[in-house]
Amino acid sequence: MITQSYAEQFNTYLNHTLCRPLFLRGDALTVLSEFPSQSIDFCMTSPPYWNKREYHNGGIGLETTYEEYTEDLLKIFSEVKRVLKNSGSFWLNLGDTYHNKELLGIPWRIAIKMMDEQKWELRNDVIWNKLKGPDNSKDKLRNIHEYVFHFVKQTKDFYYDINSIRSKPREVQIKNGAIISATGVTGIRYKRQLELSTALSEAEKATAFEALNTTLERLKCGEISDFRMVIRNQQRTTHSNSEALSGRAKELVQKGFYFLYYHPDGSKPSDVWEIIPEDTTNRVDDHYAAYPEDLCKIPLLATCPPDGVALDPFCGIGTTNYVAKSLFRKSIGIDLSEKYIDYAERRCNTLF
Ligand SMILES: C[S@@+](CC[C@H](N)C(=O)[O-])C[C@H]1O[C@@H](n2cnc3c(N)ncnc32)[C@H](O)[C@@H]1O
Repeated sequence: MITQSYAEQFNTYLNHTLCRPLFLRGDALTVLSEFPSQSIDFCMTSPPYWNKREYHNGGIGLETTYEEYTEDLLKIFSEVKRVLKNSGSFWLNLGDTYHNKELLGIPWRIAIKMMDEQKWELRNDVIWNKLKGPDNSKDKLRNIHEYVFHFVKQTKDFYYDINSIRSKPREVQIKNGAIISATGVTGIRYKRQLELSTALSEAEKATAFEALNTTLERLKCGEISDFRMVIRNQQRTTHSNSEALSGRAKELVQKGFYFLYYHPDGSKPSDVWEIIPEDTTNRVDDHYAAYPEDLCKIPLLATCPPDGVALDPFCGIGTTNYVAKSLFRKSIGIDLSEKYIDYAERRCNTLF
């Protein structure tokens, strides 16, 4: 029988070196109010959505109006901000709700209040494309996305390890003496386009050839992993044509070409994530709303330092904690339900 206060359990946990998560059963607001300020490195959570479903033990989401729901969540997010270190990140997954056939825009209503009233800084509004979702309505499109907002407390000096989330580029190949980039670029097509170009002067063509050869050499020695060349009147451009607005537009006018170089360590993920939701056919007990493990990987890798402590104040069956542990991070999970916490604990124990 645990008789320690939440604060005592928290302090004892911080002194442990093991990354086995600490689970605390209770109301998120009450539990968080016992944590010291600036003691957590990372928070990721998915609160119950408004008016959607009832969890074991009730809790947030059962308010009569979405305004009350918003206020309840904001109180908790204010505590999250207090316990988060200044270098910390808060990733908030929220889905929307229809009420009387009207989409309420709840995620953005909350995000805007967090920015305006609580002074969170929003770094990304990630679209989680769930790729599938049943919807029999005859008068609207299928809803298959949710938001994952990335908030920080300060826009400078927050922890962010971009290299941990880059997708490693494929190797450059050399076949019969020719260099082939990871996406199959050899430079031959560009050379041909330059030769045939009527939009470049002979002097511009000579400079472009030289620059292309230099780029191919950089590719060969691994300085860049890939590139694209944009030649005046050849490739379609997506930047502004205004020279005042775009450096690239200026280069096209002045030199007749420019290069786009890929980062040698690979590209970084975009803000649209395609992740299939958890399989609910073999659902655990009566819990319906676990998010997929993949949803937490980028946030944890990029914004929770390896020696940091992660938090999920609505941990459910502990997905955030499970992924944190698998990435050797310590974590704390809070939930109202003893049943979900028990499950979360057992689930995390299966890891190592
Ligand atoms: C959407 S689920 C979280 C699922 C979790 N992301 C997972 O993957 O298992 C929301 C959870 O919030 C819990 N909850 C609701 N109100 C709460 C409160 N006031 N304090 C703590 N937990 C609460 C529910 O019991 C439920 O498990």
